Amino acid sequence: MATETNPIRWGIIGAGGIAKAFLLGLNGSRTGKLVAIGSRNPAKPSLKADFPGARIHDGYEALLADPEVDAVYIATPHPGHAEWAIKAAEAGKHALVEKPIGLSAFEAEAMYDAARKAGTFMGEAFMYRLHPQTQQLIDLVKSGAIGEVRMIKSSFGFAMPKFMPEHRLYANDLGGGGILDVGGYPASMVRLIAGAATGKPFADPVKVLGVAHLGLEGTDEWASAVLKFDSGIIAEISCSVSVQQENVLRILGTTGRIEVKDFWFVSGPRDGQPGTFEIIMRDGSKQTVGGDKRAPLYSFEADAVGDAIRAGRQEFAAPGMSWADSLGNLRVLDKWRADAGLEFNLEKPQKKAVTIRGDKLKAPKRDGIEKREIRGLSQPTSLVAMGFEYFPTFKGASILLDAFYERGGNLFDTAHGYRSGQSEGFFGNWHKSRGVKRDSFVLIGKGIHTPLNYPDQIGKQLTQSLERLKTDYVDVYFMHRDNEEVPVGEFVDALNAELKAGRIKDIYGGSNWSRKRMDQAINYANKHGLVSPGGLSNNFALAEMVKPVWAGCVAASDDEWKAWLKRKKIPDFSWSSQARGFFTDAAGRDKFDNPEIVNSWYSPKNFKRRDRAIKLAQELGKTPIQIALAYVLNQPLEVVPLIGPRSIAELENSLEATAIKLSKEQVKWLEG
Ligand SMILES: NC(=O)c1ccc[n+]([C@@H]2O[C@H](COP(=O)([O-])OP(=O)(O)OC[C@H]3O[C@@H](n4cnc5c(N)ncnc54)[C@H](OP(=O)(O)O)[C@@H]3O)[C@@H](O)[C@H]2O)c1
Repeated sequence: MATETNPIRWGIIGAGGIAKAFLLGLNGSRTGKLVAIGSRNPAKPSLKADFPGARIHDGYEALLADPEVDAVYIATPHPGHAEWAIKAAEAGKHALVEKPIGLSAFEAEAMYDAARKAGTFMGEAFMYRLHPQTQQLIDLVKSGAIGEVRMIKSSFGFAMPKFMPEHRLYANDLGGGGILDVGGYPASMVRLIAGAATGKPFADPVKVLGVAHLGLEGTDEWASAVLKFDSGIIAEISCSVSVQQENVLRILGTTGRIEVKDFWFVSGPRDGQPGTFEIIMRDGSKQTVGGDKRAPLYSFEADAVGDAIRAGRQEFAAPGMSWADSLGNLRVLDKWRADAGLEFNLEKPQKKAVTIRGDKLKAPKRDGIEKREIRGLSQPTSLVAMGFEYFPTFKGASILLDAFYERGGNLFDTAHGYRSGQSEGFFGNWHKSRGVKRDSFVLIGKGIHTPLNYPDQIGKQLTQSLERLKTDYVDVYFMHRDNEEVPVGEFVDALNAELKAGRIKDIYGGSNWSRKRMDQAINYANKHGLVSPGGLSNNFALAEMVKPVWAGCVAASDDEWKAWLKRKKIPDFSWSSQARGFFTDAAGRDKFDNPEIVNSWYSPKNFKRRDRAIKLAQELGKTPIQIALAYVLNQPLEVVPLIGPRSIAELENSLEATAIKLSKEQVKWLEG
């Protein structure tokens, strides 16, 4: 156990090149010492020589099981970071993870979630952030030494002696290329300076435009990006593994500029030689600053971790990389890679698919999300349906799909139009790559959105959807928008043909349909001996939608709708069931910079409901947004909330709300 007097006992996972440099830092640190390493090949003779005195464990699991290790330094090639950081947190170990902490912001979210739950420290090892000289640079910028910062230029580019497809810097399967290996340095530095210039620990750009040259491994060998911040600051960043660049950070202000050579070494080499930087004023006068800190570069980060652990903090304090800072940095790299068309093979659907923990998908938890019978559906479904349109990548979506399924979720919401069909493709690849049996999930499909909402499009689009979803049928099908110019019977006929063909298994209905048109559809079906619509997918939430969130969308939250749903015994699959953030802390009465929420949900009646949700949340020890979801689930009607969590933490927050039981009186009281 680490105390103020006992050093923090470190273990290393991935005892390769950088781990040796880190050991140098640990040896010079105030707070820590190396006690053990884990290796896939513990007999490697170099280990004893490179890490003298350290216990050598056979494999990383064995290192994590070592009770005499308090903190681990994870220095495998990038693709191993998420798996071992999550396993470290689960083993109760603090973790300093080499950069990039994850392959994407989606991975990092899941990693921080593991640390959050375990109560352990987790941080990304951008060592230069913890060096006092970086603070000196921040202070200079803040002091206005070069006036107002306008532009920042930064590169980190070196040339490997030759192309080596198997080397981690090139290999696709090892997450190769410059953007992930070194691009994160200039990205994190310009975000740091753009933040300092505006009085914040860091700033996230409002725009990122990236390009890259992809080599024979399909990984980026040289790449550039431009970032625009809302303060007006523009940054140009570049990186490379096949081209030596100038590597001078230039911070350009209205009265002068600051230049730092190799800023990641704080302009001096790793072993602690002091580095300096220059201030060059508009008139050409020069001043050299810095040069007074002599300690191995990695000692500062080791001690920053040590201090955080001793203070019970789970993340680095600024200017170290806090969780929000690392997530912002990875979002820049994600966009840069997306612009460059770089998706690693291991991020694509694979035959031997594993979850982010590196394991096979687990069977659903028996005592996981509650299930219930919904009229018209042939099997019980989880209380909530999972939507994942938000995710632009298969890997990102699959982290949440895995998590939902393992927690007992079996109802999934998709649509032909989500991300132009990409989301359907993600789902098809997800269930196939995980070997999830078709009868163990219930699929909501949607099609015919404006302007293609015509009956003859139903079959055509469903064919495309089923192909992408890699299945022969959807369980539930909704017409995404109505087209009142078309006689309702034509839609009913087309959908009955699909029911008959077995491509829609259980129920069909309208999404964003009016009561009048739903009634007409029901009457038409009854009159012609056809199956009538068995479901609706309109918004239903504690806050009543004031103006449509998107053109043509309809809410079914008011009293007339409630009476109709009850009379017709039709389940409503409610989108935006938590009123899209209206119940979060940010949506205060005064001003809120999200025009969609202001326009669609701000009304005196909704604010009264929100106040009551806040009050009830306090009484029950929950959050208002959880109360908003519980309100939907505790209706005397069948309302199935569609949820769209963006991280495991958000998913778990919603799932926790499914267990809240509200009495009839509480539901009425919330309505006021
Ligand atoms: N902060 C910095 O200044 C800095 C500098 C360089 C690199 N890094 C980061 O540190 C990480 C490691 O880089 P490195 O240059 O130290 O790499 P490296 O020399 O190749 O060492 C990586 C180690 O990870 C283990 N490993 C686990 N899975 C592996 C796999 N599939 N292929 C190869 N090795 C594997 C190996 O140890 P065993 O075989 O013994 O298990 C290996 O010695 C990278 O994420 C990189 O971004 C940071």
